[in-house]
Amino acid sequence: MKKIIEEIKRLKEEKKAVILAHCYQNIEIDEVADYVGDSLYLSQMAAKTDAEIILFAGVYFMAQTAKILCPDKKVLLPRLESGCLMADMVNLQQLREFKAKYPDIPVVCYINSTAEVKSECDICCTSSNALKIVESLKATKVLFLPDTYLGKWVESQLNNVEVITYPGYCPTHLRIRPEDIIEARKKYPEAKVLAHPECHQSVTKLADYVGSTTGIMKYTTVHDDKQFIIATEKGVVDRLKRDYPEKEFILIKDNIICPNMKWHTLADILNALQNEEHEIDVDKDIAAKALNCIDRMLEVSK
Ligand code: 13P
Ligand code: SF4
Repeated sequence: MKKIIEEIKRLKEEKKAVILAHCYQNIEIDEVADYVGDSLYLSQMAAKTDAEIILFAGVYFMAQTAKILCPDKKVLLPRLESGCLMADMVNLQQLREFKAKYPDIPVVCYINSTAEVKSECDICCTSSNALKIVESLKATKVLFLPDTYLGKWVESQLNNVEVITYPGYCPTHLRIRPEDIIEARKKYPEAKVLAHPECHQSVTKLADYVGSTTGIMKYTTVHDDKQFIIATEKGVVDRLKRDYPEKEFILIKDNIICPNMKWHTLADILNALQNEEHEIDVDKDIAAKALNCIDRMLEVSK
């Protein structure tokens, strides 16, 4: 493993490449990553980088977003199988039908969506800025897709905004059930429960805090509590355990793993850099329209 890591680092320098890794990745990837974080942070880093190659250790829509933000750079995804199941729940035709059903209402799309879908939405959001983005529209009604649970959570946090959601969801986060929280609280009565807004409302209602990957990680550092029950993907818990050994982090249950995020290995990353594959490309017209949607989000998130 040491040899692979050294070779990846050497190739990164030789090829002026940067590696962006999502917090749900296999933890050993952090050894070679330049930036590790949530969707918002990684898209901000992609927009800023002056590297010639961006290697994305994440899911397909993240690499697509990097390509839209940096059309002149080579964007690589080590394993093409790594699609986001939620992003694939809505295509352009389904988006058009959804909009036709509710005309003249602003459309917010979660960054977990395809470039085609982004190209016909008004503004993008991630789980860390969804509230701010919806508020920025100053509308009484908004359409939100693909994640119905993030949309409904936003609605529950804002007064006077109706959030009309598309029926998409994250299969990984939906595996967390309210009974899991109730049981975990019985077992660890002192622990704080932190949940991702992609969880079902019956779960987020029981949490002490609901927030994005970064929000959850930050909560554990700024609060004095010593024990936390984490209701999101395992990668978050792995990193918290590594970085804060003095605290205790309990993954709500064993199988909260996004299989698509876990495709990439260090060997795949090495292969991707050696052969400069798999290159992600986005149709120029689609990319230009999708860029408006992403840029608007980045502007509001500054
Ligand atoms: P974050 O916005 O928290 O990075 O979440 C991305 C994601 O895919 C969650 O399932
Ligand atoms: Fe998509 Fe869910 Fe995996 Fe996130 S955890 S990348 S929303 S399938």
